[in-house]
Amino acid sequence: MCGIIGCVSRDRDVVPVLLEGLKRVEYRGYDSAGIAVVEGGSLGVRRVKGKIDGLSALVERHPLAGPTGIGHTRWATHGEPSERNAHPQIDGSGRIALAHNGIVENYRALRRNLEAKGHVFTSETDTEVLAHLVQENYEGNLEAAVRAALALVRGAYGIAVVCADEPGKLVGARNGSPLVVGIGSDSYFVASDVAALVRHTRDVVYLDDLEMVVATPDGFSTTTLENELITKDVETITWNIDTIEKNGFPHFMLKEIFEQERTVQDAVRGRLIEAAGDAILGGLREHRRALEKAERIILLACGTSWHSALIGEYMIEDLARVSVEVEYASEFRYRNPVLDPDDIAIVISQSGETIDTLAAMSEAQRRGAIALGIVNVVGSTIARQSDGGVYTHAGLEIGVASTKAFTSQLMVLAAKALMVGRSRNISVTKGRRIVKAMQQIPSQIGEILGRDESIRDIAARYAQHSNFLYLGRGYNFPVALEGALKLKEISYIHAEGYPAAEMKHGPIALIDEHMPVVVIAPQDAFYEKILSNMQEVKARGGRIIAITSEGDDQVEKMADEVIEIPRTLPHLTPILSVIPLQLLAYHIAVERGCHVDQPRNLAKSVTVE
Ligand code: AGP
Repeated sequence: MCGIIGCVSRDRDVVPVLLEGLKRVEYRGYDSAGIAVVEGGSLGVRRVKGKIDGLSALVERHPLAGPTGIGHTRWATHGEPSERNAHPQIDGSGRIALAHNGIVENYRALRRNLEAKGHVFTSETDTEVLAHLVQENYEGNLEAAVRAALALVRGAYGIAVVCADEPGKLVGARNGSPLVVGIGSDSYFVASDVAALVRHTRDVVYLDDLEMVVATPDGFSTTTLENELITKDVETITWNIDTIEKNGFPHFMLKEIFEQERTVQDAVRGRLIEAAGDAILGGLREHRRALEKAERIILLACGTSWHSALIGEYMIEDLARVSVEVEYASEFRYRNPVLDPDDIAIVISQSGETIDTLAAMSEAQRRGAIALGIVNVVGSTIARQSDGGVYTHAGLEIGVASTKAFTSQLMVLAAKALMVGRSRNISVTKGRRIVKAMQQIPSQIGEILGRDESIRDIAARYAQHSNFLYLGRGYNFPVALEGALKLKEISYIHAEGYPAAEMKHGPIALIDEHMPVVVIAPQDAFYEKILSNMQEVKARGGRIIAITSEGDDQVEKMADEVIEIPRTLPHLTPILSVIPLQLLAYHIAVERGCHVDQPRNLAKSVTVE
């Protein structure tokens, strides 16, 4: 959602650093942006409603420069997107600037108290209250004022603060919203996301909740909010700088779809053992016994990650014969779930910062369950607070519509199902067959990507429709949900995913010649049944776009459009069948002139409820 970047340097102008850093966190979703720079003993602030390009243009018209500053991209929660609600927010004296991710829950009460003391507010934001609160507690030491202010705050925050009276100082703090410190050669940084820093440094320190950092041109120190000094490990960002560039692709989403041939390989690199027909997931080593004897696994996630959890449920039950439940993290955290000490919770998240998933994980831990993560972003909160887990190694995913993270999650889930299955009931021979099939997935994805042009032609023929239905059975039912989600989030077309057999229980009423129906119909155990479902669609004039196995001629006779996928084991089919659906959604959105990488109203990582 929102993004923060801050920089303190001895004598470099930080404005270009801030603008470039904000560009890098653009993908998270935002509707206004701003920077504040300490220049010659006063504060220069530029803010706009809208995009960073608008902010850069403003800075060009009204330049500012200085060695210390902060920047922010805001995704509106309290108050409409506007210049005055944009961050950084400024205190009443005009000397303190503060950028904030998260929500101050008790801001109304705090604002009333401050107003009673004479503070006048100019925005509708909770963040302005925080800036005034720092001012109220300021006695010549910024970190002390921030500490005192935060002691009064209830809610989630990642903040960066500067003060005109202390020109060479940058203060950051976090509770529930990520903040990372970057160590440069002549500068120090704080950011909500390492993507904002990689151009300048690969050495970072991740703050944990209730910790703060004070950076000056000479170094930085980390403390708890209670002011106890803490020593943190410096970690190195390993991902390639290429991941933040489009590399010739028109959109990050298309680039990331095409990266899947490699990312699915990275997801299981060094984790499959062909001879033993087994998988080794290092992050789960100490929990292998618990996984083996688990009576029940609960998968918790949101959005696309929830769809991979559904497929994970089918995989684990099928291969490992353990009972699995899948829950929306947002529902799980607020109901009163029954957890057994032998239950294991597995949370799945690309960003590792989704607030509902994080809260669901904490709830499971609070109730005594072991909580394991399947996470993409290294060093993210879920990765750090889980009891163990596995990284998906898909690299930075910038397109708001998740693509490569999804297929990497599926590869990891398949490896996990194999690992648990092998210690329970899967033979070496079957294990080897699974490993071989997993090793073929990258080149099979390559084959599907080779059909991109014909998928683009199909997209052109259907782009003007307003409704789509997606149908699948078994392993491909969650793929139908995912295909529909991809289409609606980037093209704004209404799309629904259904288990094909459910069609007769309602959605069939919608079918006529104006309703394209995307049917995922590989030759698996449900093949005959899904052929019948297709007959039912055809009988009502519906137009069918079918995803089917290579060499199939029955589906071809019935469907208006056919996209073939290579054959693999049933539980690996979703990793292939989703690729044409990603491409279909992408090309339809492009046809309709939609902003593919940053669809309206959406944020890459949902860090507020
Ligand atoms: C996917 O295309 C979405 N933008 C969204 O549903 C996403 O999967 C969801 O917000 C969960 O995010 P996470 O995987 O980072 O937790």
